[in-house]
Amino acid sequence: MVFREDFLWGGATAANQCEGGFDKDGRGLANVDLAPSGPERFDIISGEKKMLNFEESYYYPAKLGINMFEHYKEDIALLAEMGFKVYRLSIAWSRIFPNGDELEPNEAGLQFYENIFLECRKHDIEPLVTITHFDCPIHLVKEYGAWRNRKLISFYERLCRVIFNRYKGLVTRWITFNEINMILHAPFMGAGLYLGEDDDKETVMYQAAHHELVASALATKIAHEIDPNNQIGCMLAAGVNYAYSANPEDVWRAKEVDRESYFFIDVQSRGEYPSYALKKMEQKGINLDIEEGDLGLLKEHTVDFIALSYYNSTVQSTDPEILETLSGNLFPSIPNPYLETSEWGWQIDPLGFRITLNDLYDRYQKPLFVVENGLGASDTPNETGYVEDDYRISYLSKHIKAMRDAVTLDGVDIIGYTTWGCIDLVSASTGEMKKRYGFIYVDLDNEGKGSMKRTKKKSFDWYKKVIATNGENLDC
Ligand code: BG6
Repeated sequence: MVFREDFLWGGATAANQCEGGFDKDGRGLANVDLAPSGPERFDIISGEKKMLNFEESYYYPAKLGINMFEHYKEDIALLAEMGFKVYRLSIAWSRIFPNGDELEPNEAGLQFYENIFLECRKHDIEPLVTITHFDCPIHLVKEYGAWRNRKLISFYERLCRVIFNRYKGLVTRWITFNEINMILHAPFMGAGLYLGEDDDKETVMYQAAHHELVASALATKIAHEIDPNNQIGCMLAAGVNYAYSANPEDVWRAKEVDRESYFFIDVQSRGEYPSYALKKMEQKGINLDIEEGDLGLLKEHTVDFIALSYYNSTVQSTDPEILETLSGNLFPSIPNPYLETSEWGWQIDPLGFRITLNDLYDRYQKPLFVVENGLGASDTPNETGYVEDDYRISYLSKHIKAMRDAVTLDGVDIIGYTTWGCIDLVSASTGEMKKRYGFIYVDLDNEGKGSMKRTKKKSFDWYKKVIATNGENLDC
């Protein structure tokens, strides 16, 4: 036996990238709805350009997603056909609290997710729920400045109480914030932060991060109180940072970049602000507003498991002569001559996955849950509509092999693996439909045109076999 008997094989999606139905059943708008596709998307998701209302000349892909709002039964049946043990999905906060600050939730939104969870259970699929996958009701952005405002903690707490009570028994595994470190790389997408000219950007980002960290600890506390069976995870956009050379300056730089991300999980898993972060903030003059009780909460309510996404490694250097950079999952990197890149320039590094898993397990000694991994590629269906995605099978099989090595050769404890975008969905970084990750092809283009028909790709049958053999048979 390579993977544990109860290993959770499955796939992952996020509400804003697949659900659509943005104005159905009283749902409110969120930051993620207001990220158009096209060249300005990056400036908007990074909080440099302000867009808080729909504007006519733009296309907003989250409005439609892949219309899972109406197709979820068909989609979950297809996931079940692959033998999924787990389906990771997120709830849209603004479907449950349309403005975010109401006292009472929107029943239609609650019912919608209850129906989805029941549908999963009907197929023996366990739902793994991300409470916030980048989304924040736009009213909270406009009225309160999103996570820069401490009031967000109590709004988030209310959301958590409602969903933990309502879905008790139906859902027992939760992730508090998707890729919590993304706040530093795409602050508007990650936390609804628009950074104005007068803002001290780092102070705003770290203060907002503090609020999210406290909210996460509070959610952990409440989840355990409401149902002792609840398991709560933090979630890191992970990926080892290599030094460009053996020059100690480069090695130190790589370590610093590692710590920018570890910082969040150090707090969520070890329960304390790490000393290196406190010193860094002191040196930069960042004075966080930390209220009485915050540090106790962080200390006492640490997470049960560490969830992570892994797509690529990066390379770091201090050499000013090196000008070329790539980006993988919004993390800048110097090109690595030993690695191939995807069509979108993300460096493909299966051994880096094993290194990342080891690093995280060494550091936290808690079970890991790989909740995102995959290859974004443009697929071309043949004349019958079939996609022969051998490139995706090759990427996934190499990464699963690396994960297998981490388990069998290194003793890393891994609970499960959910590939990203198990059904094609909208890309978070580019807003394109063309960048596909799925085992299931969705007939839809970048402008939202297409029949929405779902078709199994070659990788569908391959992954079905991987799951059926508990990861023993990875043959392409
Ligand atoms: C992660 C996110 O950053 O990477 C997902 O959690 C995202 O939401 C995924 O979709 C892949 O990135 P992209 O930009 O290719 O969609």
